[in-house]
Amino acid sequence: MELLRTTHLSKIYNGHASHRALSDITLSIEKGEFVGIMGPSGSGKTTLLQLIATIDKPTSGEVLIDGQNPYQLDTDALARFRRQHLGFIFQDYNLLNTLTILENIVLPLTLEGEKVSVMESKACTIAERLGITSILNKRPYEVSGGQAQRTAIARAIIHEPKLLLADEPTGNLDSKSSQDVMEKLATINQVDRTTVLLVTHDAIAASYCHRVLFIKDGELYNEIYYGNSRQAFFQKIIDVLSLLGGNTHDLSTIRF
Ligand SMILES: Nc1ncnc2c1ncn2[C@@H]1O[C@H](COP(=O)(O)OP(=O)(O)O)[C@@H](O)[C@H]1O
Ligand SMILES: [Mg+2]
Repeated sequence: MELLRTTHLSKIYNGHASHRALSDITLSIEKGEFVGIMGPSGSGKTTLLQLIATIDKPTSGEVLIDGQNPYQLDTDALARFRRQHLGFIFQDYNLLNTLTILENIVLPLTLEGEKVSVMESKACTIAERLGITSILNKRPYEVSGGQAQRTAIARAIIHEPKLLLADEPTGNLDSKSSQDVMEKLATINQVDRTTVLLVTHDAIAASYCHRVLFIKDGELYNEIYYGNSRQAFFQKIIDVLSLLGGNTHDLSTIRF
């Protein structure tokens, strides 16, 4: 079953010079898929994610999430739709420093007016899954980057969204913390059947996906599927990136 479809999606930013950031993107993502989006810096990855996230409006084209066009909803209904169906994870965590880790995690439920006892029990279960139980009473500035991102993941999934959107979630993390984060995302995808859309420039992170779409200059360039192993998929990703002209570092020593 299809969870997400974009049809001829385009975005033109109107600044002092108008700039076409995204051109005619038509794609379909099945329920339960884990899809990566890669491409050089400035190719339109974040723009695409924001149009899907209903954070920004397309210039033309359509977004359908679970059969609904969120852009046809009024402001209140759109806010509710976003809170109920979507989860977001960003490179810089976007946690509130004035709140504890626990309070950050339950924030989406607070906004929905959920009971405190229900919130606490959900938060405990999720904290356990993400390995952050011991830091629940700390503030975001007292925890590591990896812990902060796992907190952000907990907040993003506490309302059981159908679609989890992540923009460079490992961008600020060292390789061990990146691996932790990717393993958590993979588990959420497998166990909860949450559909995940991951923007990343990290080929290792992308190798956790079932499929990777490549964007160049705002247009779909290529797509590849996971084959027999993560190692082989990683190599295919590197090959496409080098065709794309993205910078490839020396990755010959990476172990899986
Ligand atoms: N709010 C904006 N106003 C004007 N131009 C923008 C805006 N956001 C992004 N762009 C431009 O659109 C293009 C795509 O940007 P973006 O989607 O952020 O790329 P990526 O995430 O792949 O690095 C870039 O050329 C960028 O400068
Ligand atoms: Mg970006």
